[in-house]
Amino acid sequence: MNEKNMVVLTGDRPTGKLHLGHFVGSIQNRLKLQEEAEKAFYMIADVQALTDNADNPEKVRNNVLEVALDNLACGLDPTKTTFFIQSEVPEIAELTVFFMNLVTVARLEQNPTIKTEMKEKGFVMKGEEGEVETGTKVRNVPAGFLCYPISQAADILTFKATTVPVGADQLPVLEQGNEIADKFNAYYGEVFSKIKSIVSEHSRVVGIDGNAKMSKSLGNAIYLSDSKQEIEQKVMQMYTDPDHVHVEDPGKVEGNVVFAYLDIFDPDKEEVAALKEQYKQGGLGDVAIKKRLIEVLEAVIAPIRERREDIAKDPKKVMEILKNGTEKARQTAQQTLKEVRAAMKIDYF
Ligand code: TRP
Repeated sequence: MNEKNMVVLTGDRPTGKLHLGHFVGSIQNRLKLQEEAEKAFYMIADVQALTDNADNPEKVRNNVLEVALDNLACGLDPTKTTFFIQSEVPEIAELTVFFMNLVTVARLEQNPTIKTEMKEKGFVMKGEEGEVETGTKVRNVPAGFLCYPISQAADILTFKATTVPVGADQLPVLEQGNEIADKFNAYYGEVFSKIKSIVSEHSRVVGIDGNAKMSKSLGNAIYLSDSKQEIEQKVMQMYTDPDHVHVEDPGKVEGNVVFAYLDIFDPDKEEVAALKEQYKQGGLGDVAIKKRLIEVLEAVIAPIRERREDIAKDPKKVMEILKNGTEKARQTAQQTLKEVRAAMKIDYF
């Protein structure tokens, strides 16, 4: 594809501040792609956030500003990327309803992203026939949550986006998005083109506890807004090698969270390789490598944190960016839905 007609779209659920996992998994790619794309959109996915937070609208509302601040602080530029709020573009909801007919319930239940997230959230979908949740965990998954891959396909295709930077955990959702686009085209004519997902080389940052995933709910995240003290505390808690008791003991590098982070964030790869050797042989203490990591992370986070504090002084201005972007996004959305309705033969008047 010619870069000139690349349309980029990406988004975050407003359920909490963003952390290093988001930064490495997707934000860095957003920054790069906004320079190359013909058009770029950044969506705050409040409708998607509500699929598992229906009872907590305040949380979703409050985090709209937080995720906008995180992205602005990282350098997503509203003159290059159109920022908008999902719920304020009703055309997305409309397209979601049309797409619902193109997906089976069985296919949704088999989506690996949905399966993993259901486990994390305590949702269960299989149960005895006729059993409905009554305070038990039987078939308690909200229909909206099960269907979020459909609405995510609509998020993307409403804007005819071609290129979507995401974390690796989202790949099955995008694959399903492409199936939906194919089916739509087969039934109603060529309206949508293929969605290309862009996943970063370091697609996953482990949690500070060594858990495979950094996440707010697991309480193992380092946030883009963390103070130096918070970074220090978190790095000091990091899991290393439980058998590396004395400085002179040989230590393990595999599974060692400190080295996993140095691999991703330390710009001096040669020095990291030398440190690994020394650690394996013995004679390098955990405190020494942790001190190095604190400085490395502070160098990444400090400029983001400072810009964030600065932008946060004027929340009205951020809301203005979202409002203007949403108006612009709606124009594109209306255009696409017109085409969709014509293709589906539901353009009556
Ligand atoms: N599901 C994504 C996440 O949890 C957020 C999201 C919603 C998204 N709609 C999107 C990402 C469209 C890319 C494109 O991170």
